[in-house]
Amino acid sequence: FPILEFQQNLLTWYKENHRKLPWRESRDPYRIWVSEIMLQQTRVDTVIPYYNNFIEKFPELKDLAEAEPEQVMKAWEGLGYYSRVMNLQTAVKEVRERFDGIVPRTPEGISSLKGVGPYTAGAVLSIAYGVPEPAVDGNVMRVLSRILLIDEDIAKPKTRKTFEKAVRELISHEDPSSFNQALMELGAIICTPRSPACLVCPVQNECRAFAEGRQQELPVKTKK
Ligand code: ADE
Repeated sequence: FPILEFQQNLLTWYKENHRKLPWRESRDPYRIWVSEIMLQQTRVDTVIPYYNNFIEKFPELKDLAEAEPEQVMKAWEGLGYYSRVMNLQTAVKEVRERFDGIVPRTPEGISSLKGVGPYTAGAVLSIAYGVPEPAVDGNVMRVLSRILLIDEDIAKPKTRKTFEKAVRELISHEDPSSFNQALMELGAIICTPRSPACLVCPVQNECRAFAEGRQQELPVKTKK
């Protein structure tokens, strides 16, 4: 597989075509963290106004740590999955108590925080700190299942590890932040679930599914 060509085509495309989103204005790990928690079960268009309001109310980690839970819930109202924000407030308090207010920059440290799973850990480490860690969600699995022709069932919990291993082999060590965000962006804009825009895809040439005309068959996903 032509890794350098793939990285270059993906990163050049991302730099020229990414959407301007509010959480892309900052590299503050706290702000990236808030955005990734919101984006886990909620669409980008819905998240934008909530993110802007939340950051206005709680601009820094300490502001969220010291806030009244009632005020925090109010800022989350309408987003749903309220355990996300309760865990987030617990976790930012832990950051102050255990890590001197600095979001940890290691997989072990960040994963030890309440509500921080492998996806959130990888997203914050790569986007905020430039650490070359995978950030594999459903969109990234769809994109890579096509590019690499991986036909494992993405509904199975074990499958994420296969994709994390793939990302470790492919990720740009020069710019892990843009690389991971580019995979997300490709999934959102080009490599969509129903009718992927293969004809304008920046990595069409490196895509095994396109070469075999099998992009519609992937990813394999059994209903749970
Ligand atoms: N979905 C999950 N994380 C995202 C991000 N950082 N930008 C856009 N969409 C996303």
